[in-house]
Amino acid sequence: MSHNVLNVLMVAAEAAPLAKSGGLGDMVSSQSMALRRRGVDASILLPGYECAFERVIAPTPLGYIRDLPGGDARLWRAAMPDSDVPVLLLQMDHLFAGRGSRLYQDEDGRDYIDNFARFASLSAAAARIAIGVRGVKRPRIVHAHDWHAGLTPLLMKLAGASARSVFTIHNLAFQGNYPLGLAPYAGIPSELLAPAPREPRSIEFYDTLSFMKSAIVHADALNAVSERYAREILTPQFGNRMEGVLAAHAHKLTGIVNGIDDALWNPQTDTLIAHPYGPDDLVGKHACKKALQQSYGLHIDPFAPLVAIGSRLSTQKLADVVCEALPAALARWPRVQFAVLGQGDAAIEDSLRKLAAEWPGRLGVHIGYDETRAHRLHAGADILLHASRFEPCGLTQLYAMRYGTIPVASRVGGLADTIADCPPSAVTHPIGHATGFLFDGERASDIFHALGRAFDAFAHPQAWRVLQRNAMQRDSSWDAPAARYHDLYRALVGGQSAPVVRAPRHANAAPPARRTSTAQRHRRTLADVRRSA
Ligand code: ADP
Ligand code: GLC
Repeated sequence: MSHNVLNVLMVAAEAAPLAKSGGLGDMVSSQSMALRRRGVDASILLPGYECAFERVIAPTPLGYIRDLPGGDARLWRAAMPDSDVPVLLLQMDHLFAGRGSRLYQDEDGRDYIDNFARFASLSAAAARIAIGVRGVKRPRIVHAHDWHAGLTPLLMKLAGASARSVFTIHNLAFQGNYPLGLAPYAGIPSELLAPAPREPRSIEFYDTLSFMKSAIVHADALNAVSERYAREILTPQFGNRMEGVLAAHAHKLTGIVNGIDDALWNPQTDTLIAHPYGPDDLVGKHACKKALQQSYGLHIDPFAPLVAIGSRLSTQKLADVVCEALPAALARWPRVQFAVLGQGDAAIEDSLRKLAAEWPGRLGVHIGYDETRAHRLHAGADILLHASRFEPCGLTQLYAMRYGTIPVASRVGGLADTIADCPPSAVTHPIGHATGFLFDGERASDIFHALGRAFDAFAHPQAWRVLQRNAMQRDSSWDAPAARYHDLYRALVGGQSAPVVRAPRHANAAPPARRTSTAQRHRRTLADVRRSA
């Protein structure tokens, strides 16, 4: 790429296939690929997890970044195994190695006690790269994702970086709120922890230091991963107490619906599924359905409506309520089958296992995380049940639609933005552009009734075929969203706006060759901020 190309550094805790716990990992990698296709020089800064080092191609050491909140780091450049996106890995073995592919929590589901140091280090490393690190081209845009990278915009300002910052909210339920006393370890001056009404730059949030609030307050531009979620999070129902902070920064908040990697998720070329198929020839989908029934121990029945559930088993995904709805649905519709792929809350996993034992041949459950099975699930099912209390974007419904699997989903966030609801009766009303079924409410009966609507339509093959064709032909590619991110970057580098926090004196200089401790840097930063106050 030529030297005047826009250089963007993504900063995130996940990037598939190196590290993934959910949609964040898919989004960061496929977004970077799409931006590169547009000529943007996008690369990703990722924690140096063991699983990431195992999967990257040709890792090359670049040098050290000293004295991050969690200590010294070694920076590596590498390539993704499946794309041309360059990756920078932040090697800090005491923080990121030896934990398998468990990115945030131990095997008992408890957050790692050093998560503050782990992700403050990630943000601080991004800020260092923004002011210049040997061997890495200085980015003009630093694009941080979710709370793990949330300190990046503020630390960039404190370091005097000239790059502009973008922050994407993927899930406001996870905020990264820590004791205020940890602030000095991240080089955050105490002035910035003053109560918000007195100090608009404050990152204090209900007596904690909040990574999420820090990003909302200090990023040059903000977006949520769907338009509806961008509006929802301004309300108490979806704002997770952050709605007031967001309202104060709403002028820089937009919504951009995610795209998907449509080469990876393509039933015509997918080698993981039993038989390829496309919108004009669905014969292969029958073979995929049979294979799915076999692998889940379901009765082999080509005419049984087969419902997939594939997600984290959490209360966000209403998985607790789905467990309540399942027995009623299985009893009411004797031919209907369910195939569940997921992992998460132990109690929900247990209930599902119990239900599967009670409904042999009708309900199959696979507890675990398995990418191959996810492809087979989307290919083999007729319907995807995607219930959510809130859904910032949701990718599973996009994958399902591409595979001609019709979503039945909650009318929230990105689900409402991406699924066109079927009319009340698929028989008496024209289907139009409908691609699925949306429902309101969070009760088992709401799920039950929505499933009923889908089964009614399924009983009419012609109507169902129209739904499938609509869903498969929906454009879920990155073309439109990548163009919007590109425009946002161009507006930022073209525009002017002074940093809110005055930069320390060594602004724009390369990192000091001599080692300075975090406490020393903190003192200098504080003195500087005081001078400018
Ligand atoms: P979220 O990020 O909230 O979990 P998304 O729909 O954005 O929801 O993304 C979920 C991603 O994780 C999808 O790629 C989905 O296929 C994948 N996924 C979730 N659970 C599993 C699982 N048990 N096995 C394989 N993939 C899974
Ligand atoms: C989060 C959200 C999900 C979204 C994903 C990628 O995990 O929960 O809705 O699709 O991020 O942006």
